[in-house]
Amino acid sequence: MPTLEIPFAPWRFMLAVDAVNYALGEQVDYRTRHAADPVVNLSSGVNLTEPPWELVDFALGAARDPLFWHDYDGPDGHLVGRAAVAAYEATWAGVPVGVENVLVTAGASAALALVARGLHPGTGAGAHAVLPAPTFPLAGAALADAGFRIGEVTSEEPDRWLPTVDELIAAATGDTRVVYVNTFNNPTGERYDEAELRKLVGWAREHRVTVLHDTVSSDVASVGGLPHLLSIAAEEDYPGGVVTVGSLSKSRAVPGFRIGWLVADADLIARLAGFNELIAPSSPGLAAPALLMDRMLAAVPHHGRGSATVDDGDRGPAVLTDGKLSTSDELWHRVEELLRPYHAGLPGLRGFLDRAGALLGTPATANGLAGWRDSLRQTLAGNVASLAGWGETIVAGPPWRGDFNTFVRLPALDGCDALATTHRLFREYGVQTLPAPAFGHSASWWRRHGYFLRLSFALPPARWQEGLARLSAACERLSADG
Ligand SMILES: Cc1ncc(COP(=O)(O)O)c(C=O)c1O
Repeated sequence: MPTLEIPFAPWRFMLAVDAVNYALGEQVDYRTRHAADPVVNLSSGVNLTEPPWELVDFALGAARDPLFWHDYDGPDGHLVGRAAVAAYEATWAGVPVGVENVLVTAGASAALALVARGLHPGTGAGAHAVLPAPTFPLAGAALADAGFRIGEVTSEEPDRWLPTVDELIAAATGDTRVVYVNTFNNPTGERYDEAELRKLVGWAREHRVTVLHDTVSSDVASVGGLPHLLSIAAEEDYPGGVVTVGSLSKSRAVPGFRIGWLVADADLIARLAGFNELIAPSSPGLAAPALLMDRMLAAVPHHGRGSATVDDGDRGPAVLTDGKLSTSDELWHRVEELLRPYHAGLPGLRGFLDRAGALLGTPATANGLAGWRDSLRQTLAGNVASLAGWGETIVAGPPWRGDFNTFVRLPALDGCDALATTHRLFREYGVQTLPAPAFGHSASWWRRHGYFLRLSFALPPARWQEGLARLSAACERLSADG
């Protein structure tokens, strides 16, 4: 009998947390007992600020266009969404990236599950994947579910969780096929710099290993200038060895829209599309217009307001002109070029592009989007800075680099059972948290290292402060209880 149990302990631990902390009945129960103090979610990993309404309105308006709903758009996703993603990647990478390199999915989760299947060499073949620990648990779960043996690596270096590239390489075996890298690494917010990525890609090329790059939170609030892994891989003559997944869920605060993508070698994309037909013969209808605006927003130059403490990255900023979204910019040209051969097959495409181009080209749209990002960055900068005020109770994690997750320690809870404590924090204090064993290793491993948990700080400052105050009060009481 097939089992639905995924052989990856951190994933199962997270499900055990969620079985209480996200159960609707439990929420109702808490709400009934504490009508005046709603639950504060400090760690679902969701961006609880507002999305850019220009993007939402544009996508919803476009959803009236039969171009996006009148037919299945195919298991590799709508052409317009694929062109938007391809144009963005091609603008940075020194290799041509076309629609044949992109598959649009219902979120990055679907992309990860799909690509894990596609990268497995088949039954009987040894297949090992290397993962940093702690990291996003769905990646390990997807790889384990596809049949990979997982090697989790934690850094031995002081002051960092993210393993160095040398440490990742040292954990590889003769059977290693995949290394998973997350920018910014969830839950610690760390990332690799360009030199480290170059070294990783060079090694991967020599050993025919695929680097699976999860960029889901790359464009949350960094000031731009993140190293672009596909460009590095192209320079190192290994572009086909990088698979990139991305999503709008975190960066645009719309996880319910289910919009993600996958960029890879065209052969792999074609094979994945064949398999995807089984699950998703079409991408979500909103995905294509939303991706068009999202990729334009990602390319808007970063002004850096509110970014004083954010790392400046290694590469120059994005390339659009005059800080404006202009229909004549490089990205838009590429989108048009990529779509040109398909007009005859997609009636209505020309009209849609004309309307979209006119809207995206207005200063009002450009300023709205840039203002939204600046304001998100300011909220995040303020929230993360305020962590310092909790001294020894909530010990801050690695410095902020642009994401909204951080990995803190609650020394008062060292040695406590992580699952039971997490459920108590929710049931008794109305604060949802996700402790370290959800991100790698076992609960007993973490008991030896301290009580760590992820805090997600993309939420209105007053809610954030309320959550921290509850956490601090809980630490005092739970440690007094022994
Ligand atoms: C690193 C990372 N990758 C992928 C995902 C999945 O995002 P989605 O499926 O909503 O696009 C998440 C969500 O928490 C994440 O943090």
